[in-house]
Amino acid sequence: MTLRTLAAAVLLLLSPLAQAAGDIAAGKAKATVCIACHGANGVGISPMFPNLAGQKAAYLESQLKAFKSGQRKGANSAQMAPMVSTLSDQDMANLAAYFASLPAAK
Ligand code: HEC
Repeated sequence: MTLRTLAAAVLLLLSPLAQAAGDIAAGKAKATVCIACHGANGVGISPMFPNLAGQKAAYLESQLKAFKSGQRKGANSAQMAPMVSTLSDQDMANLAAYFASLPAAK
C-alpha cells in the first residue's frame, strides 16, 4: 500500500465522523418548521416550548434522536415525534448545530 492509498483510506474512514458534525447553514434551512413552536430565535414562544438557543449541540442532537427512536416519551414529546420522523441523522446534527449557535435567552 502506498502512502497515498493509505492516506485515502484514512480519509474514507474518518468521513463519517466529519459528516456527524452539524452544518449550521443546512440546519437553519431545515428549521423553518421548528420555529412555529421554538421561536425564530430558538426561544420557545410559550412556556410549554423549551428554548433551544444556546443549548449544547450534543444534547440537542441526542434528544432529537431519542424522540425519533421513541426512547424519549412522556410530557409533550408527542408533539416532537412527527417533527423528527422524517429527519436523517445528518439533519438532526445540522439542526442541533444551528440552534446551539444562537445566543441563549437572557
Ligand atoms: C408543534 C410544536 C413543535 C414543533 C413544530 C417543534 N417542536 Fe421541538 N418541542 C416541542 C415540545 C412541546 C417539546 C417538549 C417535549 C417534552 O416535553 O418532552 C419540544 C422539545 C424539543 C427538544 C428537546 C429540548 C430539551 O431541552 O430537551 C428539541 C431538541 C426540539 N424540540 C427540537 C425541535 C426541532 C429541531 C424542531 C424542528 C424540526 C422542533 N423541535 C419542532 C414542540 C415542538
